[in-house]
Amino acid sequence: MSPLYYVAVFLHGLCVVNAINFTTVYEWDELDFAWPSGANSSNGQTDQNFNAMDVYFRYMAVFEERLFLSLDMKTGIPATLVWLPTRRTSTAPPKLAPFPSWDLHKKDNCDTIQWAKGLQADTDGRLWVLDNGSSACPSKLWIFDLANNDTTERVHQFPDTVVPHSASKRSLRDVVIDKTPDDFLAYIADTRSGRIVVYSRKTDKSWTVKTTGDRWLSLAISPNREARQSLYLIGIIGSNVLNSVSVSELKNEGGSAAVKFFGEWTESPYRMLIDSADVLYAAFYGQNYLSMWNTSEPFREQHVHEVGRLYASWPFTFALDANDTLWMTQRNVTDAKHNLLKAEVGATSY
Ligand SMILES: *[C@@H]1O[C@H](CO)[C@@H](O)[C@H](O)[C@H]1NC(C)=O
Ligand SMILES: *[C@@H]1O[C@H](CO)[C@@H](O)[C@H](O)[C@H]1NC(C)=O
Ligand SMILES: *[C@@H]1O[C@H](CO)[C@@H](O)[C@H](O)[C@H]1NC(C)=O
Ligand SMILES: *[C@@H]1O[C@H](CO)[C@@H](O)[C@H](O)[C@H]1NC(C)=O
Ligand SMILES: *[C@@H]1O[C@H](CO)[C@@H](O)[C@H](O)[C@H]1NC(C)=O
Ligand SMILES: *[C@@H]1O[C@H](CO)[C@@H](O)[C@H](O)[C@H]1NC(C)=O
Ligand SMILES: *[C@@H]1O[C@H](CO)[C@@H](O)[C@H](O)[C@H]1NC(C)=O
Repeated sequence: MSPLYYVAVFLHGLCVVNAINFTTVYEWDELDFAWPSGANSSNGQTDQNFNAMDVYFRYMAVFEERLFLSLDMKTGIPATLVWLPTRRTSTAPPKLAPFPSWDLHKKDNCDTIQWAKGLQADTDGRLWVLDNGSSACPSKLWIFDLANNDTTERVHQFPDTVVPHSASKRSLRDVVIDKTPDDFLAYIADTRSGRIVVYSRKTDKSWTVKTTGDRWLSLAISPNREARQSLYLIGIIGSNVLNSVSVSELKNEGGSAAVKFFGEWTESPYRMLIDSADVLYAAFYGQNYLSMWNTSEPFREQHVHEVGRLYASWPFTFALDANDTLWMTQRNVTDAKHNLLKAEVGATSY
């Protein structure tokens, strides 16, 4: 084929498709927490000694009227898991409220959440929170019942053989949920060991599956039963390469899963998700756009949303709700502003 053919494909592949029409829900000039009344500097956790630009939104989940966000553990950040209402309740944008309470966020108290990472809300109204732990506390998976006063339904501390308790031997980030006919399974990437950790809610057990080739950073799985045969993976070594493993192979405790190559993004994604039309969205380190790929077709990257320069390493984080609304935060380092945006995507919007 002529070189011109490749140029044409390349240009076409990256043109911006206005498939997503975002509207702004909130704009914050400065983020703040919903401090408890009477908070003061005699209590280290709520002494309000933090810098608003040290609030880094990492992972997000949404269920009904609430958005959940995990935050980086920086000096002065009092809780790494917070929530916001999806609807404006006052003229000022909302403050970040600890989830489920201040009491479940105590530094180096291993009975509380130490460092929330990946989050998912399942269809039955449970919030799954991956807690990477701290140097003092092992990693855990928390499951909260959002329909029942946010009670803690499960706290699964991973056995040492699954996720090492030794702080230097583990690093958990992303989690996705697979609803099977009789169970909910969580797939988790341990970036340090390179293994995929699987948790079964039914048996309250976890195990690992080996893969070859890379160590995994971000994960995505389709919300549709038929398409939920593949777990998509981004590694840390070939970090713009999109791979997958078959979920059937993840059910073999202590087994291994074959890694399949799909294609290469132009940049390195840090976050992916798949909507009800089986379109995969990706956000990239330091890039001011989102890309998509229709997973029903051969791999092809298309930009779907592009804004001016933001200068953030994680400019966006996003989550889908049960009604195919894509919720997304945007961080602009230059003017220190954060936005919450939303758009209709998925099967109903195409
Ligand atoms: C985008 O969404 C807004 C608000 O929902 C609507 O008013 C507008 O017509 C939409 N624009 C396009 C191009 O669909
Ligand atoms: C400061 O915090 C302490 C401990 O939480 C509390 O006992 C005290 O009443 C607080 N003081 C003020 C002025 O809010
Ligand atoms: C989803 O749609 C249903 C029916 O229209 C509505 O009752 C519900 O509040 C919506 N959920 C969200 C999160 O908007
Ligand atoms: C939730 O907690 C409130 C206040 O403690 C209580 O009145 C209510 O009955 C609880 N609801 C459920 C579903 O447990
Ligand atoms: C998870 O925790 C361990 C131990 O504190 C740490 O070494 C690792 O960097 C953490 N991983 C992430 C992604 O924060
Ligand atoms: C994805 O590709 C399939 C197969 O070509 C097509 O039927 C479907 O409409 C596409 N979906 C979107 C959202 O473009
Ligand atoms: C980020 O902030 C700068 C400074 O206010 C502004 O010029 C730029 O347009 C903003 N970027 C976006 C995408 O809004």
